Amino acid sequence: MAKKRTDWVYHLDDRFWLLADKMPPEQARFIKRALALRSGSSRSGGQRVLDVPCGAGRTSIALAKLGVEVTGLDLRSKFTNRAKRRFRKAGLSGTFLVGDMRELDYEDEFHAVVNWFGSFGYFDDATNLDVLRRFVRAVHPGGRVLIQQANRERCLRHFFKERRVPLRELGRRGRDVVMIRNRWNPKLERVEATWTLDVDGQRDSHWLSMRWYTPGQFKTLFKRAGLEFEALYGSALGEAYTPASPAIVVVGRKPK
Ligand SMILES: C[S@@+](CC[C@H](N)C(=O)[O-])C[C@H]1O[C@@H](n2cnc3c(N)ncnc32)[C@H](O)[C@@H]1O
Repeated sequence: MAKKRTDWVYHLDDRFWLLADKMPPEQARFIKRALALRSGSSRSGGQRVLDVPCGAGRTSIALAKLGVEVTGLDLRSKFTNRAKRRFRKAGLSGTFLVGDMRELDYEDEFHAVVNWFGSFGYFDDATNLDVLRRFVRAVHPGGRVLIQQANRERCLRHFFKERRVPLRELGRRGRDVVMIRNRWNPKLERVEATWTLDVDGQRDSHWLSMRWYTPGQFKTLFKRAGLEFEALYGSALGEAYTPASPAIVVVGRKPK
């Protein structure tokens, strides 16, 4: 029986998750290249990708437009339903499922798993490793796993404790301004944050917590999960990594 879960990923306000709808096509082209994917349906020799978590399908739709066969999974049915509607409207086919990535249970089904836009590190270290192992189990031997996260080195250099930020500036929906209070927990190597919305005098606070990994820690994590470390990039377009890079993108390959 599935576990009853109550942690922060279940409680965070939808407005904090739901991201800008459009992925620039050059980002999707980079993902496709980094994962060495061919286009077309699996029957015609194309390749299947699992986009997890897929949110409202912005990565999925951009990849599908490049001819990749996509399955998306997310915790929130509101987001997967939105992804389904967008696919229908664009005349594309894709599969969308509701589920918790901690319970992902595929074996050798996909050519690749993509985990895009700060969607890794939500849980404790052992659970994050278990989630990565599930990604690895989901791909065929020779298949790849790609993770994109904020670049910890840069984030810590520019770390702020408190700031009012318009939701739009974060690529989120809505006109509201959110008060973000951040704390770096050096022992757990996590950013722990409170995001507070103040709408018409009504305060609504949400807590979130994410593990940020260094490139070296990702290498170790990949090894422990059974992946050969293949590439490290510093942006969503595949530029070289430096400590000042906006993002960290890591790609690993499951041995054949
Ligand atoms: C930052 S968003 C990124 C979504 C997508 N990758 C994108 O680039 O638009 C993170 C997503 O993770 C989903 N999520 C959070 N915890 C999850 C879990 N345990 N299992 C599956 N999805 C989860 C949220 O619902 C949200 O859609």
